[in-house]
Amino acid sequence: MTDHSAQLRPTTPANLEFVLSAEATAHASGFVQLWTRDRHLQTLDDPNAGHWIIEDTTTHKRVGYVILLGLQDPHQCLLLKRIVITQTGKGYGRSVLMQVLDKAFNEFAAHRIWLDVMEDNHRARSLYRSLGFVEEGCLRESVKMGEQFKSQWLMSMLRSEFVARSSP
Ligand SMILES: CC(C)(COP(=O)(O)OP(=O)(O)OC[C@H]1O[C@@H](n2cnc3c(N)ncnc32)[C@H](O)[C@@H]1OP(=O)(O)O)[C@@H](O)C(=O)NCCC(=O)NCCS
Repeated sequence: MTDHSAQLRPTTPANLEFVLSAEATAHASGFVQLWTRDRHLQTLDDPNAGHWIIEDTTTHKRVGYVILLGLQDPHQCLLLKRIVITQTGKGYGRSVLMQVLDKAFNEFAAHRIWLDVMEDNHRARSLYRSLGFVEEGCLRESVKMGEQFKSQWLMSMLRSEFVARSSP
């Protein structure tokens, strides 16, 4: 597999159709919740939130989006609320998550970054683990999707762990 690299640029209202369509596809797979257009729109203007389009570094084609919450959190705990890649398995997720971690710890002075992930989302869980996220526990049957209750895993990375992984 040739790994594709991705970069971030701030989401604009004109990108929301793309965001909603990508989100609907990921939701159909059972991996993310749906937000309304208004909720995304509010997040674009929220100084506590970062909402970025993920684009291919070479072609500048949109390949996903990512949302980070808690940029102004007094405890410096940032939440990786959502990441959706539209062309999965090509390396975009790994490429962009490394940049998101760098942003969180170096630009937004995070002490901790955390997320929740569906138990059956093996690709995402394996990617987060390989980037250094630590599993903290399982929220058993915490989300109802259709008629099914699904469990989620909480994962996090501390600044000290990020620094240790980043040093040569
Ligand atoms: C999860 C997601 C963000 C990952 O992005 P991606 O671009 O597909 O991921 P990448 O191609 O960078 O890397 C995926 C890694 O998982 C591995 N992988 C793929 N399928 C896997 C599986 N079923 N089980 C375990 N690992 C798997 C790949 O081998 C790769 O590892 P490598 O880099 O060591 O080769 C993306 O698939 C996505 O948006 N999925 C739908 C929405 C979603 O689940 N969002 C996350 C919610 S928490």
